[in-house]
Amino acid sequence: MVKTSRIPGYHKLSVSERIDKLRELANLTEEDLELLRKAVPLPIDTADRMIENVVGILGIPLGIATNFVINKKEYLIPMAIEEPSVVAAASNAAKMTRAGGGIMAEATDPLMIAQIQLVNVPSPYTAKYVILSRKRELIDVANSTNPVLIKVGGGVRDVEVRVIESPAGPMVITHLIVDVRDAMGANTVNTMAEAVAPLIEKWTGGKVYLRILSNLADRRLVRAWTKVPKEALGGEDVVDGVVYAWAFAAGDPYRAATHNKGIMNGVIAVALATGQDTRALEAGAHAYAARNGRYEPLTVWEKDHDGNLVGYLEMPMAVGIIGGAVKVNPVAKLSLKILGVQTAKELAEIMGAVGLAQNLAALRALATEGIQKGHMKLHARQLAITAGATGEEVDLVVEEMLKRGEIRIDVAKEILESIRSKK
Ligand code: MEV
Repeated sequence: MVKTSRIPGYHKLSVSERIDKLRELANLTEEDLELLRKAVPLPIDTADRMIENVVGILGIPLGIATNFVINKKEYLIPMAIEEPSVVAAASNAAKMTRAGGGIMAEATDPLMIAQIQLVNVPSPYTAKYVILSRKRELIDVANSTNPVLIKVGGGVRDVEVRVIESPAGPMVITHLIVDVRDAMGANTVNTMAEAVAPLIEKWTGGKVYLRILSNLADRRLVRAWTKVPKEALGGEDVVDGVVYAWAFAAGDPYRAATHNKGIMNGVIAVALATGQDTRALEAGAHAYAARNGRYEPLTVWEKDHDGNLVGYLEMPMAVGIIGGAVKVNPVAKLSLKILGVQTAKELAEIMGAVGLAQNLAALRALATEGIQKGHMKLHARQLAITAGATGEEVDLVVEEMLKRGEIRIDVAKEILESIRSKK
């Protein structure tokens, strides 16, 4: 656990000063720091073993969101993302939630679903009956594929059978509900599905085609909640603005898609930093958002009796801290170390909390000054630094560019020269 995630002025430090501060707060070693300072932190031969036809490595900035208190614990949040403003917005919203005690989050048990597709059965309900009546055998065979998982307390928890109608006729779909503990679980459950498929064919006389996990991980959810004091948000008017912004998303799928994109800005940035399967998370989130037959926002915002803002998030969160890219990518390992997470459940809770904070930041900005002002300020800052400004000069150049309403590199250079000539 970090001592505190509250680091006023962190954004004003240089990269190397930020690394030093991180070392102090997150107990990093010299080796960890070396990794952060490296231009290419993933060795090319590691990359070559991860995917096929490797020719290089793509760099994505890794930032640290500050101010997070989740389940009463302080967290510094590593976020890998190419989009400006996201890390700043998360830190800002976290600061507002902090005023009300932070964000509470709880993830369910890590239950993944594997699907086995059975077709060509003359009587689907007879097949369903047969499969369910031999559930125990199915579970034993599935569990026998992964003794390590069983040893750490995971394994198949249940078997469900659904008869679905499809354009190719009725199908009997068996679900293995598997507790995958600290893994994301895709490999685990795919192996199990493949192992039990021959039994299902033998018992029913049908033909199995697909044996694969479902990314609609609706048994592996995270719920996050926060209460933001109205004063911390900027007054009751802003509370109303955020509630109206949410209601817009609840009433209109065109808005809900953008609303959820904002949540995923936070979720996926942490996912990328910690080596998760980001596509699985996206697929799960959007399928869950559409579970009621209409695409809906993944959060709810409401005003309590005292005029404070209350936020709630609920979404699938299939993440792991063992296996996959987590195991081989040194930056992913370091990100987990910075977070100090002990279980996949804890990581899911952090990611839910970040999603909620990210959503709050977007809605607050959209309902008040709009998001462009913040974007322009950050852009101006980047230009000032590119123009060569250092220390106090950065703020002076930014201020002057914003005052003039001219955010360009030539203007940044001109202002910098004039500041220096006056010294
Ligand atoms: C931009 O990346 C994300 C937002 O569009 C999210 C939202 O509109 O809620 C600002």
